[in-house]
Amino acid sequence: MSSDAVLAIDAGTTGVTALVVEQDGRIAARGYQEFAQHFPRPGWVEHTPEEIWQATLEATRDALKGYDADRLRAVGITNQRETVLLWDRETLGSPRRAIVWQDRRTADLCARLRDDGHEDRVAELTGLRLDPYFSGTKLMWLRENEPHTWALVESGRYAIGTVDSYLVARMTRGTYHVTDVSNACRTLLFDLEAGDWSDELCELFGVPRDALPELVPSWGEIATTDPKSFLGLSLPVSGIAGDQQSALFGQTCFDEGDSKCTYGTGSFILTNTGSTVQRSDALLASAAWRSPDGEMTYCSEGSIFVTGAAVQWLRDGIQIVGSAAESEAIAATVQDSGGVVFVPALTGLGAPHWDPDARGLLVGITRGTTRAHVVRATLEAITHEVRDVLDVMPQLSALRVDGGAAANDLLCQLQADLVGVPVERPTAVETTGLGAAFLAGLAVGVWASTDDLRATWTLDRRFEPATDRDSADAAHARWTRAVELAKGWEG
Ligand code: G3P
Repeated sequence: MSSDAVLAIDAGTTGVTALVVEQDGRIAARGYQEFAQHFPRPGWVEHTPEEIWQATLEATRDALKGYDADRLRAVGITNQRETVLLWDRETLGSPRRAIVWQDRRTADLCARLRDDGHEDRVAELTGLRLDPYFSGTKLMWLRENEPHTWALVESGRYAIGTVDSYLVARMTRGTYHVTDVSNACRTLLFDLEAGDWSDELCELFGVPRDALPELVPSWGEIATTDPKSFLGLSLPVSGIAGDQQSALFGQTCFDEGDSKCTYGTGSFILTNTGSTVQRSDALLASAAWRSPDGEMTYCSEGSIFVTGAAVQWLRDGIQIVGSAAESEAIAATVQDSGGVVFVPALTGLGAPHWDPDARGLLVGITRGTTRAHVVRATLEAITHEVRDVLDVMPQLSALRVDGGAAANDLLCQLQADLVGVPVERPTAVETTGLGAAFLAGLAVGVWASTDDLRATWTLDRRFEPATDRDSADAAHARWTRAVELAKGWEG
């Protein structure tokens, strides 16, 4: 083992984080840059690719300020998944904004495909379902609604990719057009068992296979950054993973049955299922990662679309908190939510409900309701959403959590109380970035094996359930009634 460090780029939904990770798993430096969210119509969410790239440069610059970049051995990339981008292979400019995973514009397209009888076959091949969440129908929408742009995809001038592919293209001046299986498997164009793009699915969604990135292992020799494009750095890009699979890796969930829950913009509960694709109606089956020798590891996933984004909405939408961090202190000023229930179905509902037409709902408001009750109801909502997913998964002995909101002690305690199992928080909650660093570092020998990585995991705090099961179940039953009201609102 060497004493070098790895740069991790975590290009999330609301911003880009750059981390420098040392061999002992310590985060030595970090930078962060937010970028704009565009909501051109209700239910639509877009990002400007150039802004994602500029935020990547800015966050990296920040992280490396005062850090000896010569110690960096590699860069790992992790990213918001499902979001699709187009770029010109020559100029690297994008002809339009990215369509984000949260975007619901293809709900009708999904219904059309379902009516035409495609759902079962799509699910069989991909482990997913027909929901606007995934990239396939977003691309189909572009083909049907922006034919001039699509013609240049067909002609080979524009490349298609997820955020990881785009960043690698920008870092390498367009030399590489690649992705890994953890990202590919979320597009609806990937045959999960075969581990390759599917001609049948490309045809169904009308996507030319040549426009898709080349599949590379999740760690190994992937690409090399061009110093002229990437802040003077010439580094191997040796790790790529979608952010949730990256967090699974960062939590060192290497064995079958290991699980984690990441609280980010949404919350995502993933369980390592080893070499088996585990199918379920309520959950998704995905690729966790593929090793350089081609071995696939799969996972089962419960995707919740809006958790941290609900707190962000309290801050930016109705402006009742000044910062996300403030939400803990405000919520702690009241004993409970005073009967208020908030269903943050702001972009429909994901697992286990899968209803793109559900919309947000606040019920139980009285004249005594204060902003503290609403803020507390928002934290409670996150825990209820997570319980909904855990209720359809095999029983866990403890829930390993991470992500920004895992730093919120009240949230962790409420979660343990509601689900009735201990919640374990590691010292490093930025496990998404950590996972990308681990993947990249494993490839270049910063870490020799997954055992070395396991040794870096340390427990910060364990939250024991402190509420009796009857009251927890009664609170959850009230939540379930509210969820039923939120369903089908737009339909
Ligand atoms: O599937 C969407 C997910 O990858 C987004 O993650 O961390 O931006 O909430 P995050």
